[in-house]
Amino acid sequence: MELSIATEDVLDNVAELVNQAYRGISAPDWTSEVGLIDGPRTNRLALQEMIKNDASTILLALDRASGRLTGCVALSPLDHGEWYLSMLAVDPQSQSSGNGKSIMTGAEDFARGAGARSLKISVINVRQKLIEWYERRGFVKTGHTEAFPYDDPGVGVPLRGDLALVTLTKSLRA
Ligand SMILES: CC(C)(COP(=O)(O)OP(=O)(O)OC[C@H]1O[C@@H](n2cnc3c(N)ncnc32)[C@H](O)[C@@H]1OP(=O)(O)O)[C@@H](O)C(=O)NCCC(=O)NCCS
Repeated sequence: MELSIATEDVLDNVAELVNQAYRGISAPDWTSEVGLIDGPRTNRLALQEMIKNDASTILLALDRASGRLTGCVALSPLDHGEWYLSMLAVDPQSQSSGNGKSIMTGAEDFARGAGARSLKISVINVRQKLIEWYERRGFVKTGHTEAFPYDDPGVGVPLRGDLALVTLTKSLRA
């Protein structure tokens, strides 16, 4: 899938899409954080901060016919050729149609083209089906778990006390 790079003028739309995808649906489901974390996942200011000085690149998936935003993902370089992938989101009406997989492939191509040798992601520990989804995409658990940022109001309102972040990586070498 061809992805385009988000510019400042579309960040309100991106924030709305991400918030809908992560927390907008009404019932808990493997695709979302509903029941785990309340409140918005992001906002325009946070996204502005992400893309400031090209620290991160937010890639957009647009519907070919209408130009409507259907998904996004963020990438940022870490050390030693490793890149961090986050904020993968498909709008709820377009989920389970292969869009998430296509965005992931497009993000891998973009990162590889920019010199990345591997990708790193963090997934909430209790989202087992999502972890399996990433494993089917070739990601492997590192065995390392990071503390959930309970003190950071920017992540929303956690509804459970047992959240942590599981780290997975994927080599981009052919
Ligand atoms: C996670 C997300 C990106 C996946 O995108 P998507 O477009 O819905 O997913 P796709 O259509 O590409 O893939 C569907 C997969 O889900 C699987 N699936 C469908 N229903 C399922 C269910 N009830 N339980 C588990 N897996 C299911 C399918 O088998 C398929 O996987 P496979 O091809 O490996 O067999 C999307 O649901 C999303 O935006 N979620 C909210 C944001 C989020 O949580 N992002 C990840 C944060 S780390």
